[in-house]
Amino acid sequence: MFQSDAWLSYGRRLRLLKRKEYPMKKTNPTGIIGWKAEYNTGIDRIDFEHKIFLELVNSFKIALDAGRTKEELVKILTEIEKYAEFHFISEENCMFSINYPGYKQHQSLHFDLLEQFNLAKYEELGFSKFYEFIKDWFIMHTTQEDTRLKEFIDENNIEFDIFRYNISL
Ligand SMILES: [Fe+2]
Repeated sequence: MFQSDAWLSYGRRLRLLKRKEYPMKKTNPTGIIGWKAEYNTGIDRIDFEHKIFLELVNSFKIALDAGRTKEELVKILTEIEKYAEFHFISEENCMFSINYPGYKQHQSLHFDLLEQFNLAKYEELGFSKFYEFIKDWFIMHTTQEDTRLKEFIDENNIEFDIFRYNISL
């Protein structure tokens, strides 16, 4: 479905994602990552941004499997890197606004990943290995780290909506 939906406009994809109707695959032979319930953090905007992040990582995998040139793969990696940078700032702003105690530590995890993106473009790690790395990183980071944010919000009865973080599109 991911590949056959390539004709959909970016705006249409965003609207489907927002309504949780976008049909992301659970599994497939090429190793594309599908959305799983365990990835939900409970914060709508973060989940929404994570879904887009996964779409971008999947597009990298598709390009890899299609034998795209190094130049094309680096361009896609740059796209994912820039989106990750935006998304990390979103998360960090949310954490900062509610005095989340793990803010600095979490921010350093984000910095580390951005550095890995930078290295992947120039080092001989290999794009396939980097795809496996980024896939594993996303799953671990989302389920082990990002989910703690909602726990903190719930444990401290924070009125999250007043920060207008969960913006509507
Ligand atoms: Fe994070």
